[in-house]
Amino acid sequence: MPDHHETPINLDDAYALETPEDNRILYRKWASTYDADFAQRNKYVYPKTIAAICAELVDTDSTTKIIDIGCGTGIVGTCLSELLPAGIIDGVDISPEMLLIASTKSRVSTEPVYRNLFEADLAQPVTFARATYDIAISAGTFTHGHLGPNALINVLSTIRHGGRMVVGINIEHFSANGFNSALQMATDNHLISTPTFTEVQIYDEGSPHYRDLALVATFLVLSPA
Ligand SMILES: C[S@@+](CC[C@H](N)C(=O)[O-])C[C@H]1O[C@@H](n2cnc3c(N)ncnc32)[C@H](O)[C@@H]1O
Repeated sequence: MPDHHETPINLDDAYALETPEDNRILYRKWASTYDADFAQRNKYVYPKTIAAICAELVDTDSTTKIIDIGCGTGIVGTCLSELLPAGIIDGVDISPEMLLIASTKSRVSTEPVYRNLFEADLAQPVTFARATYDIAISAGTFTHGHLGPNALINVLSTIRHGGRMVVGINIEHFSANGFNSALQMATDNHLISTPTFTEVQIYDEGSPHYRDLALVATFLVLSPA
């Protein structure tokens, strides 16, 4: 049956997912309406906020190599490309349909936002890159029904020694699913520096989800995972 005859997908559907395959199936259906029906309608400001936090950490004119973890349709990358026009941005996601939309996104310069887009299940060890990136950034992907702390540790291997991670984690998901102990263990094992945390709004005022919060963890990668 065509998707437009079905009930629109909402946040409850996304939060109720249980496996990477569930995610692949949901985002296959959601990709074409995600930007307008989810992001714009719900005043989803998280990508812009996290891009701004990331941009403050680097020289605006540098060719910083960034990987957008769970890039979806490319909203984070698009915001980043406006703040860091010389930045080289790659993206990774489990959903080929979301990646296809991301591949259509353009910079102000009309160049594509993303240089390379990788299809991968980040619940599994990473094979598409090793110690390649200066920064890994993520919004909306470490949340209920999506990725947990093991995936966060998996993606450290994509970042070069001395590079950084700027990762947003839904605050309830953070508390319920062991992110604190995973980050503490990585710190104790000298894989990462002690994280700093910034609490941010996921949605703007006027959104039905206003006051849903995320923690943005920022840290250095000290040795390959
Ligand atoms: C809520 S969307 C966020 C997309 C984008 N970062 C944004 O802020 O709009 C979550 C994304 O995580 C991706 N995802 C879910 N599980 C995944 C997995 N196991 N591996 C890689 N990506 C995954 C989904 O396909 C989806 O594009």
